[in-house]
Amino acid sequence: MVKKYDIKDLKLADKGKQHVEWAESQMDVLRGIRERFIKQQPLKGVRIAACLHVTTETAVLAQTLKAGGAQVTVVASNPLSTQDTAAAALVKYYKIPVFAKKGEDRKTYYQHLNLALDKKPQITMDDGADLVSLLHGKRKDMAQNVWGSTEETTTGVIRLKAMEKAGKLQFGAIAVNDSKTKHMFDNRYGTGQSTIDGILRATNILLAGKVVVVAGYGWCGRGLAYRARGMGSRVVITEVDPLRALEATMDGFTVMPMEKAVVHADVVATLTGDIHVVDTKHFLKMKDGAIVCNSGHFDVEINLDSLRKISKSRKEVRPFTVQYTLKSGKRIMILGEGRLINLASAEGHPASVMDMSFANQALAAEYIVKNHHTMEKKVYSLPKNTDDLIAKLKLAAMELTIDELSAEQKKYLTSWEVGT
Ligand code: ADE
Repeated sequence: MVKKYDIKDLKLADKGKQHVEWAESQMDVLRGIRERFIKQQPLKGVRIAACLHVTTETAVLAQTLKAGGAQVTVVASNPLSTQDTAAAALVKYYKIPVFAKKGEDRKTYYQHLNLALDKKPQITMDDGADLVSLLHGKRKDMAQNVWGSTEETTTGVIRLKAMEKAGKLQFGAIAVNDSKTKHMFDNRYGTGQSTIDGILRATNILLAGKVVVVAGYGWCGRGLAYRARGMGSRVVITEVDPLRALEATMDGFTVMPMEKAVVHADVVATLTGDIHVVDTKHFLKMKDGAIVCNSGHFDVEINLDSLRKISKSRKEVRPFTVQYTLKSGKRIMILGEGRLINLASAEGHPASVMDMSFANQALAAEYIVKNHHTMEKKVYSLPKNTDDLIAKLKLAAMELTIDELSAEQKKYLTSWEVGT
């Protein structure tokens, strides 16, 4: 018999509902969109498969899509990020099927994705492009049903753009991450804060005075670097991009190669989107007790296979903290199995910032419904007015007002005659 849902425990639903309502209370923009969706039903009858981190915030998004008339199925975009409470609430109270359990193995993870695709979605939502990737591989059979997809994260957008460039993309995709109201806020303030949260929940270390090495000075790395500095850490940046390295330097951070940085590091956090950023040569140079974690999308940034090879033993010393003892006797702590630490040991980005990311997702779904007939097999960004609208609504929710250009100022900005 085909399962209607697959979650850890339906009894967690009451707690989950409480948490979802807490998140919802801080997601004003998405709530506003939901009110409009209820009236206008822009997603009526549309089948949506959402492969996202199954959190309270995702629950609010799923409800919004459903309120707009969609038939939504939710699966996890990472085996370790599911909040089983939120998953249970979605099933029991919001009547949205979920296939996700925190700690599921790889096989179950993909079974769940396949179950979502079995429902012949017309829109897919990804955080990391795993659904789209399946639709171009083992589940090609389902690609013809798809009107378009949306993508939440930098890594997923990189994958989609690679598919577009190779001429492989079978439908249009909206890079939600390209919206300024997404990456400038979610990636910077969301990842920045929740990565600190994850490190602290896993280790309870004092950050003041510690040397924190941040690999990657993109939006996420910048966010973490600033927040770690705010906690009194001595922050070192590693980069491969000269512009970003220069920017980090002029932002007042110390910049050096990873091989040098690890010698001093109390904490190393990777946020690059690339593979083996921390490798054997780095582990060998680390201090005894160094803490290593990742907040990039995939668990490829820390080469754990290499660490296992040079270790004689490992043990869990706290939840989400595994101590590897090297043959030399040196100890290295790996947090959250090298997976996104902000979602593994903490709760991901706070609702207030996911509000803008998921407002973009909801509007992206509406955009696909309206425009799929003319969308090409390309990666799209949402129109600029969507960003302006979301920023405006967020400011209003924060009870902030701003100045408006006068007629004279508008005229000046479109003229060239007045100079020195
Ligand atoms: N990605 C990062 N934080 C998240 C959250 N709270 N919910 C869904 N996706 C996320």
